[in-house]
Amino acid sequence: MFQRAAAAALDAFESTVITNLLEKPHALPKTADPTVQIAGNFAPVDEQPPVHSLPVRGRIPPFINGVYARNGANPHFTPTAGHHLFDGDGMVHAVRVRNGAAESYACRFTETARLSQERAFGKPVFPKAIGELHGHSGVARLALFFARAACGLVDPAQGTGVANAGLVYFNGRLLAMSEDDLPYHVRVTGNGDLRTAGRFDFDGQLRHAMIAHPKVDPVSGEMFALSYDVIKKPYLNYFYFKPDGTKSDEVAVELDQPTMIHDFAITENHVVVPDHQVVFKLQEMFRGGSPVVLDKNKTSRFGVLPKYAKSSSEMKWVDVPDCFCFHLWNAWEEPESEEIVVIGSCMTPADSIFNDTDDRLESVLTEIRLNTRTGRSTRRPILPPSQQVNLEVGMVNRNLLGRRTRYAYLAVAEPWPKVSGFAKVDLQTGELVRFEYGEGRFGGEPCFVPTDGAPAVRGEDDGYILSFVRDEVNGASEMLVVNAADMRLEATVQLPSRVPYGFHGTFITAKELDAQA
Ligand SMILES: [Fe+2]
Repeated sequence: MFQRAAAAALDAFESTVITNLLEKPHALPKTADPTVQIAGNFAPVDEQPPVHSLPVRGRIPPFINGVYARNGANPHFTPTAGHHLFDGDGMVHAVRVRNGAAESYACRFTETARLSQERAFGKPVFPKAIGELHGHSGVARLALFFARAACGLVDPAQGTGVANAGLVYFNGRLLAMSEDDLPYHVRVTGNGDLRTAGRFDFDGQLRHAMIAHPKVDPVSGEMFALSYDVIKKPYLNYFYFKPDGTKSDEVAVELDQPTMIHDFAITENHVVVPDHQVVFKLQEMFRGGSPVVLDKNKTSRFGVLPKYAKSSSEMKWVDVPDCFCFHLWNAWEEPESEEIVVIGSCMTPADSIFNDTDDRLESVLTEIRLNTRTGRSTRRPILPPSQQVNLEVGMVNRNLLGRRTRYAYLAVAEPWPKVSGFAKVDLQTGELVRFEYGEGRFGGEPCFVPTDGAPAVRGEDDGYILSFVRDEVNGASEMLVVNAADMRLEATVQLPSRVPYGFHGTFITAKELDAQA
């Protein structure tokens, strides 16, 4: 009875105070306006149980044997207040390919604790990190959430994350991740469907959130990861898992203020951690602003830490002023120059993803060199000025992660965040080969699938690039298979239902599928 009364009182507070007094009088910024953020092919779709025997034009190389899985945001409830693209519930899309056939397509929500509690409520009750948590209405939404939790109406301890950003296959599990929570274990079933096994704490070893871009070392099989905290120190922790899933001790990294660290990089012997100028200042909400801010007084830097360090005192920091990389594509050690080479896309304005800005987004593929002995850095755009084009989301051959790579496969982020194609970039020469989706056709991250044995047998670019594409003119959703060596289209798989633009994906081999926990 008490709970029912409390629920009714809090619902009334939400509609009269938050919605009518605090939110309605203010126009939403573009970064929180659902009519902007989830328009067109960013709009959510319903789940799709497996559809088999997909039509294929062209020829799928028979060696591609496994599942291309891609994560994305797909709000289950129609937003009634602020909503940013990153706030949507996680949904995984999966295409099963075997013996030259596209066997199945399915998409499913990742059944997070957040989603299941909101389903029971019949409406969104967890605050949306970017779309809602700004200004006084954001403070009020947080207070409302904690009040509901105090009354036992919601349980944040079960997890608050959306699991919509990254995917990694590690130690028998496909993990769906967002940086605000533990990963979720999603099982790929024998008929190409997806089933959420649950929130995964690595058998009790991981007690806090993990970023959505852990790195699996292709030689050791270890998985390296970070966790950041926006409220309490240490603001950053580093840890790794042995191939059998055993977690290391954590290394607490001293930072002066909580910092957004969406991605990082590994080399053969080190991890490379960006500590850039996009930081969290929760007090900004009380002043009416966003808690995610660009701190112009902070100097961007990278920390280089031995992989098996016991303490952050072993971290060597190198300043790289005015550098913001949301993602890092690779890094490696260069003994001849005693430098760590980092490949990333430098984004300006640095906070453009989170805050409304009229400045044009630039995303410059950059080589950053860190000399940990002298503490100095240099940086250079990889593409020549005449060829400069915004490049974001993509990858190198994952069998070479942490080692010198010649090529990166990156989305052409013009426009952004839906993209018009992808490019294969020679990181040494700056030579760029573009694959354009064509008029009215857009996609997202390209996924490079190395041929068995590449690069050892036939070269680093021996493999295929998979990508979901939406034809906004004829309404078709497709999966493209492009030969990475010559960048020619090999096959087009027709998908049975609309696939929204999304975030990061991975390829799970048949062998890995068979070894699932
Ligand atoms: Fe990401």
